[in-house]
Amino acid sequence: MIIGKPLFSVEQIQKRTEEMATKISSDYKGREIIAVGILKGAFMFFSDIVKLIQVPMAIDFLIASSYVKTHSTGKVNFHAELRENIKDRHVLLIEDIVDTGLTLRNIKDMLLAKNPASLKICTFLDKKIRRQTDIHLDYIGFEIPDKFVVGYGLDYENKFRNLPYIAIFKKTS
Ligand code: PRP
Repeated sequence: MIIGKPLFSVEQIQKRTEEMATKISSDYKGREIIAVGILKGAFMFFSDIVKLIQVPMAIDFLIASSYVKTHSTGKVNFHAELRENIKDRHVLLIEDIVDTGLTLRNIKDMLLAKNPASLKICTFLDKKIRRQTDIHLDYIGFEIPDKFVVGYGLDYENKFRNLPYIAIFKKTS
């Protein structure tokens, strides 16, 4: 297994996260949000961006998984539900990456049934070329090519999530 050179460095990630937080703060000015992180992958991006968003917020998490090694199974498993009631609240979903879009499709449909005042999606990475369902993303950090990436929360078999940068992952065997 090889970890290639950074696709996005610590500095690039920080700069882009600041830009996204500025836009989100401006869009939600005067309102309170509930930021919902999709674990595990979003833990690092979530932690960085919520520190920079300048509106009152509550936080919550969902735990969902659909990947085995480098492939989406197409089936989304939920391991933990929301603890907050989101009815009439402004929900901001925070993801590390959108690939096929199936995870967010499931989550979005499930949350809309709970009647939030609004629901927007913020993702750090967008692998748009792999999309299998039409889903609108409100805030996107970077669009990336069809390469498997790790680091900054993203994993291969639950490893490499702690790398502070995004790197392209190559499997040698
Ligand atoms: C990853 C990632 C997203 C999802 C995106 O999660 O964190 O939630 O896949 O893929 P999709 O758009 O094809 O659905 P994963 O299932 O690997 O679980 P993890 O967050 O625990 O790593």
